[in-house]
This record gives sequence, structure tokens and C-alpha cells, in this order.
Amino acid sequence: MNGEKGKVCVTGASGFLASWLVKRLLLAGYHVIGTVRDPGNERKLAHLWKLEGAKERLQLVRAELLEEGSFDEAIIGCQGVFHTASPVMKPSFDPEASEKAAWEFCNENKIDLVTVLPTFVIGPCLPPDLCSTASDVLGLLKGETKQFQWHGRMGYVHIDDVALCHILVYENEAANGRYLCNSTVMDNNELASFLSLRYPSLSVPKRFEEDGRPYYEFNTSKIKSLGFNFRPIEDMFDDCIESLVEQGHLPPLQRGHQRLRASPIAI
Ligand SMILES: NC(=O)c1ccc[n+]([C@@H]2O[C@H](COP(=O)([O-])OP(=O)(O)OC[C@H]3O[C@@H](n4cnc5c(N)ncnc54)[C@H](OP(=O)(O)O)[C@@H]3O)[C@@H](O)[C@H]2O)c1
Repeated sequence: MNGEKGKVCVTGASGFLASWLVKRLLLAGYHVIGTVRDPGNERKLAHLWKLEGAKERLQLVRAELLEEGSFDEAIIGCQGVFHTASPVMKPSFDPEASEKAAWEFCNENKIDLVTVLPTFVIGPCLPPDLCSTASDVLGLLKGETKQFQWHGRMGYVHIDDVALCHILVYENEAANGRYLCNSTVMDNNELASFLSLRYPSLSVPKRFEEDGRPYYEFNTSKIKSLGFNFRPIEDMFDDCIESLVEQGHLPPLQRGHQRLRASPIAI
């Protein structure tokens, strides 16, 4: 631990991304107020209580986005709020409209807002149930093409980098506006080739149909100018697969296959 820091709130604390952010904030010495919809659900929250520093510096309180004023108690007394709670599964949910509304509200109320915009987040899943993005990845590693066919060309970022970017912009007073948070952009066929080569014992699809979508990259120079460096795609999938194996979602990989490119001398 780096020493005691202030009190911050993380909304939707039990989620995929938020759980990792809570972990990083606790390790950095923050006192964290996490909001959850059901603080009595021991199974859903056990992973948070197991985090280092949780017993000393984590509090979980109930808050529901659809109830006016529900977050007041959690937020009062906090120096910062990391807002990640989101009804992501609802088809009507529009992240761009939510962000626009947040900017308008914060500008009108003189609240210092910074947004972090991650691409597809890859990495170990701390919650007991896989969130939708983690189950899409698991599906791909088991040979399903449906979700990634639809995703086409996409940016990927390590979950730990997403958490660290949030903390970096929070702690940096000069940080402002929007920060794209992305390591690598790949077409789904590039991703399939990469995964098949690196993890040959998994049944990753060999090819996707060409979707004709345009080539693009993300400009992440803004976050990099704060001194941030993103982890490569190899680390994202190594860590993600290791945790899926540990959790029993995937069979153990055959020895020597994982980290093939990272350790060529050991082949
Ligand atoms: N995963 C990605 O690849 C990715 C990429 C870019 C952006 N994002 C964004 O990051 C955020 C978190 O994503 P995630 O993947 O971590 O999703 P997640 O695991 O589904 O977490 C969402 C959290 O929101 C909470 N929540 C849902 N409905 C709520 C409501 N009505 N009131 C209060 N809390 C509610 C849930 O809390 P309960 O525990 O109470 O159910 C859950 O913990 C979302 O805004 C998502 O759009 C994610």
C-alpha cells in the first residue's frame, strides 16, 4: 500500500470494470465507498471483501440509478466519484447519450468531470458471474463466432490499464475532458490468427467473414501524454485466459503453448 489517501466513491462497485478499479484504489491507499444494488448479496460481493485492504477501507452501500437521490448518501463526504454503474444489458441504453447528459449536468453544476472511454476490456474477471464482455471472450475462445463477427474491427485494452487510467486522470489536476483508453485495434481475423497461434489448444475460430468495415485506429496520445503506457494484447489474453482456467470456465492449457511468443527460447 502507498499510504492513506482520501475517500472516493465507486458506483456499481461489484461490476467487471468497477471491481478491478476498487482493487486498484484500495491498493493505492484510498478509502472506497462502493455502491451496489443489493448489499446483502454475499455471493455477488464476496470477491470485493477478499480484496487487500477491503476490511479496513471498503464500505458497500445501496444505491439504484433509477431512484432519484439514491446516491446522495454514498457520495456525500467523498473527494471524488468514479461512476461506472450502468444498466449495460438494456437494449435502450445509449452510452453516448449518457455521457452527453453527464457533461451538461457537470458543466451546469460546476462539477469537475473527466471521462475515460475504454475500448473492449479484456482481463481477469473478479465477480463470480461473467459479465457480457467476458462471456463474449469465453465464447470466442470456445469457437463461437457470433459476437465477434458482429464486433468486426475493434480496440482492446487490459482491465488493469482501464483502472489505472481512471486513477491517473483522477490524481492529475491537469487532466480534463475525454480520454480514449485503448491499447490495440485489430480486425477479428487478425485476432483469430493471433489467438490460434498463441493458444493452439483452444478451439478459436479460424476465420470470420469479411465485414467490409473501414480501417481505423484510435489516437491515445492524450492519455499517453500523462505518462501512460498500455499493455500489449498478449498480456490481456494471457491474464484473461489464466483467470478463466482458474475459475473452471476453460480447461488448463497444454504446457508450453501459452506465452509462445513471449518466451521463444523456451520452445
Ligand atoms: N466491459 C467493457 O468492455 C466496457 C468497455 C467500454 C465501456 N464499458 C463501460 O463500463 C461500465 C461498466 O461496464 P462493465 O463491463 O463493468 O459492466 P458490468 O459488469 O455489467 O457492471 C455494471 C454495474 O452496473 C450496476 N448497475 C446496473 N444497473 C444498475 C442500476 N439500475 N442502478 C445501480 N447500479 C446498476 C451493476 O450493479 P449490481 O451489482 O447492483 O447489479 C453492475 O455492477 C459501463 O458503463 C460500460 O458501458 C465497458
